[in-house]
Amino acid sequence: MVLELEKSIDDENIERLVRIFYPEVIADKIIGSFFIEKLGNDIKSDKWEEHLVLLTQFWRFVALYDDEYKSNPLRPHFDIVGLNKEAFDRWVLLFYEAVDRVYDKNSGAFFKQKSADIAKNFIHRLEL
Ligand code: HEM
Repeated sequence: MVLELEKSIDDENIERLVRIFYPEVIADKIIGSFFIEKLGNDIKSDKWEEHLVLLTQFWRFVALYDDEYKSNPLRPHFDIVGLNKEAFDRWVLLFYEAVDRVYDKNSGAFFKQKSADIAKNFIHRLEL
């Protein structure tokens, strides 16, 4: 990541991004059910807390090269029944909205680009 962005993206705002994004995801008509099926609908549950911590680590790995995230981001998506391209488009749109609530234009552009690239890669590898 370029030096300028390193100053504005940090552990605290990445955590804020993740914790703003997932309540919107659960409430969403198009993609909410995929998450509720696996993790339930209570964002305060242990299951969700585990997911939020994991996803915070994932984005710290992407943005800050933090090495706490050691898992495989694509793997669980193979088990989600009915996942399609429309769902991914919706995911990206909701993520962009969350990004806009946390970051200015510059840092936001970084997360938008990364999320869109990863989503595209997932769609390709999941053969959707
Ligand atoms: C409609 C699109 C998507 C749906 C419905 C979805 C759903 C899920 C669900 C339900 C899990 C939890 C699986 C489990 O614990 O058994 C999960 C994990 C995860 N998702 Fe997604 N996801 C989507 C798109 C994305 C995208 C675009 C990214 C990245 C930019 C992403 C990143 C991750 C990561 C990092 C994990 C944790 C993987 C691990 O380390 O176990 N997801 N996703």
